[in-house]
Amino acid sequence: MKKVITYGTFDMFHNGHLNILKRAKSYGDYLIVGVTGENYDLGRGKLSVHETLAERIRSVEETGLADKIIVEEYLGQKIADIRRYGVDVFVIGDDWKGKFDHLNAYCQVVYLPRTQGVSSAQIRHDTFGQYRIGVVTDTADADEIASECAAAACFSISGVYSENASVAAKFSMRNKVPAEPTLAGLLSSSDVLFVRTDLKKRAAYIREALYQSIHVIADAPFAPTLQEQKELLRLADENGVLLSENLTMPHIYIFNQLLWIARGGLIGPVRSIRAGIQDLGDPESSVESLLSAVLCPVLKILGTNIRRISGDAFQLKLEFVNQPPRDGSAMLGTAPEAFSVVQIGDGANEALEIQGDNGTIRAGRHWWRGDYFEIERPGKADPERYSTGYDGNGLKYVLKDFGDALRTGNRRPVTLTREESERIAEIMEVLHQ
Ligand code: CTP
Repeated sequence: MKKVITYGTFDMFHNGHLNILKRAKSYGDYLIVGVTGENYDLGRGKLSVHETLAERIRSVEETGLADKIIVEEYLGQKIADIRRYGVDVFVIGDDWKGKFDHLNAYCQVVYLPRTQGVSSAQIRHDTFGQYRIGVVTDTADADEIASECAAAACFSISGVYSENASVAAKFSMRNKVPAEPTLAGLLSSSDVLFVRTDLKKRAAYIREALYQSIHVIADAPFAPTLQEQKELLRLADENGVLLSENLTMPHIYIFNQLLWIARGGLIGPVRSIRAGIQDLGDPESSVESLLSAVLCPVLKILGTNIRRISGDAFQLKLEFVNQPPRDGSAMLGTAPEAFSVVQIGDGANEALEIQGDNGTIRAGRHWWRGDYFEIERPGKADPERYSTGYDGNGLKYVLKDFGDALRTGNRRPVTLTREESERIAEIMEVLHQ
């Protein structure tokens, strides 16, 4: 029996998919179809996939062409599959021409011409449309939004506005989008405002967008004072729009595993967190961006009940109190009293260390990407390691979740809770006094 294998995402199943399955089947007697798993697609930056894995498998099943369906879960799995199932022919569309020649060492490799004029990307675009993002910026390095937008698929850039006309002109030229002479002009052609400005000006832009019921993604915090931060969050609620921080960590699943482990008590009650960030991949990172990033895991693990704040912006000590559960059960994730020391800037020790009674979670340089950590446990020689790869600087993951929230009408913050958001503004306010 001659066995054939082919792979794909098969999102929004279309005629091109049906054609390739038929042609693949004709190369042998038994067809195996590999459908990409959700984490695999997320890890390689293919964030646009709309249907669940179960839905995509069902579509392939319904063709009646597949004798076996498997899930593709990691880069390099194809070799293991070919060996495991004794595959004779590997078939794939010619958009991949040359990319799988190394599989010739295991079986015959066949590239077939793609069916013209149809793709999942086009169907998604026609079905769901795109949200238009207006960019307001006063920095010359806001270009990431343009490239990351393309990957998140459900967004397009409507234009750019800057108080500094030359910043807007350069962004406009590099990214081929219109430079709007006024903020009003930009807002009138946008569903979402992406705000990348100095903290002093940020709140005014956000407020204007919210008044006009336009969703906002902005650096954290949104405003320099707690009162303004609260006002903006309230305004977003009142106008039924989403206001979210541009903060990557909470959108990366490995970071959420870290939170789950710490908060679920899997390293015992957490007593302290030490965290430091030198820069966020850009030596010009503002104090506010660094502090927001460094405080993200701290507040998500130790809570928002802060008893005392001491130190300065470059080394800050926070003391937390947490009430034990009312029903008398043990506290799992946090000790009744805990503290955190956070450092930012050039001299900071760039590491994250979460100390529980029963183990320590550690992550080293660039931990703020949220993609790697280790757990050390008493009596165990080797640490447990958790990691994932991700593509780019992470903004596309923020956009993907933002797009999902818009589409599903979910108005809750996808990044920080309201309390966390307010607490960060409060800490900044204390530091500025
Ligand atoms: N394919 C094809 N003709 C098309 C589209 C896809 O032959 N018009 C083939 C691909 O070459 C691949 C398989 O179908 O071998 C699965 O492709 P997949 O990436 O799932 O589909 P696309 O429509 O290309 O998806 P997207 O637009 O999301 O990239």
